[in-house]
Amino acid sequence: MKLTVALISMGTIPAPVIYAAPDGEDLSIGKSLADMLVAGETVISREQDRIDDPKLGDKGLSGETLLEQTREIYRRATGVDAAAVDPASRHGRLLRAQMDAIVEVMDANQTTINAKGTGFKGFIPAVFARLVNEAFARKAKGEAEVKVTGPPDRIRNRKARPDAWETNVIKSKLLAPNWPRDHAYSAAVETGGRAAFRVMVPQYYDETCLACHGSPKGEVDITGYPKEGAKLDELGGVISIILYR
Ligand code: HEC
Repeated sequence: MKLTVALISMGTIPAPVIYAAPDGEDLSIGKSLADMLVAGETVISREQDRIDDPKLGDKGLSGETLLEQTREIYRRATGVDAAAVDPASRHGRLLRAQMDAIVEVMDANQTTINAKGTGFKGFIPAVFARLVNEAFARKAKGEAEVKVTGPPDRIRNRKARPDAWETNVIKSKLLAPNWPRDHAYSAAVETGGRAAFRVMVPQYYDETCLACHGSPKGEVDITGYPKEGAKLDELGGVISIILYR
């Protein structure tokens, strides 16, 4: 109704507008999706000992329970209640797709997580994140993608390899000695023949990561991969978000 009034008062019929989100909005959506993914990984990390306790059966980590804890960490990190983000907005739609992906992955892995008599189950934050990102890609239907990648010499899973653009950003920006810590890199860049806005959010190794990614280099960790010899605070990974336009 308002639109009609405006058009009449302007006295002209405007040319069709091709919607393009301003870069600032896309950047904040990208960071928000990274924050939610990290929040989920944080819950898995916090629960890791319980998940891998062979004496425990049901861990009480259903999709809904995990999501509730994830949203709380996201809320503390961002000051935003994810449930309050307008579901009709691009941000709200993508955030919901991601939260649905978290629930789906947890519900699909209950048998693994609750297996009694098994210690280490391989359900670690990196695996959780990869599965959530795969489920998210299906739900976001070509509108957006989230991937965890990293410096090429730090990659374990082939699926996590950086593409040419990511490799260049990692080498020339995120690994540059003067790059400010925690600062995301973003750019509008054509990807797969489509106009896109891309965001790269750096992640650094903390003490908990070094049990697997640290020293001695080459020694096999609990997951069966050789350790990378990484050091505290080095760039360990990057959450790479593509928002297609
Ligand atoms: C229990 C061992 C373990 C711990 C602890 C661990 N990781 Fe990993 N990490 C792995 C494994 C295994 C993979 C491969 C997962 C897969 O199959 O996709 C991985 C994958 C990754 C990836 C994705 C890229 C790739 O190589 O496939 C990043 C980034 C990463 N880890 C960073 C971290 C950071 C940062 C921390 C600490 C916050 C951490 N990891 C803690 C074992 C671990």
